[in-house]
Amino acid sequence: MVAAPGRVVVATDDNNAVLGTANMYANRPNQGAHVASGSFMVAAPARGRGVGRALVRDMIAWTTASGFSSIQFNAVAASNEAATRLYTSEGFRIIGSATGGFIHPSLGPVDLLILWRDLP
Ligand SMILES: CC(C)(COP(=O)(O)OP(=O)(O)OC[C@H]1O[C@@H](n2cnc3c(N)ncnc32)[C@H](O)[C@@H]1OP(=O)(O)O)[C@@H](O)C(=O)NCCC(=O)NCCS
Repeated sequence: MVAAPGRVVVATDDNNAVLGTANMYANRPNQGAHVASGSFMVAAPARGRGVGRALVRDMIAWTTASGFSSIQFNAVAASNEAATRLYTSEGFRIIGSATGGFIHPSLGPVDLLILWRDLP
């Protein structure tokens, strides 16, 4: 959960079972508050059905309507193919990489990517 003016959403099925969630907020305070950030999580059995894409599109719509100028994801593990593909297919581009910034439990050190998307 994040405090207002940040926002938390859930994606549900027709029976109101929660399939996934996202939060969104200003990436930095004050002079950095025009850039949004957020995170996403879809329940393992519900993955691969478009829930993550719906949550990302909801975030893009909300951050645009709220007046943010861009979105920055600060730490996406390079091994996270699902997340990287989802974000880049929704207009995000990789703008940086912290070498070995994440100690993956089975892969060991993997790069941490920074992704960026300008908003209209
Ligand atoms: C990343 C995550 C949110 C994606 O959610 P999802 O509901 O499975 O994603 P979608 O079904 O909407 O898929 C959207 C796109 O992501 C990519 N993708 C999804 N699952 C993938 C997989 N297993 N392998 C490769 N690409 C994948 C595809 O490009 C897909 O588009 P397509 O269906 O047109 O091919 C989900 O895997 C998750 O919760 N992972 C664990 C938490 C996490 O890593 N969060 C992000 C941290 S940065």
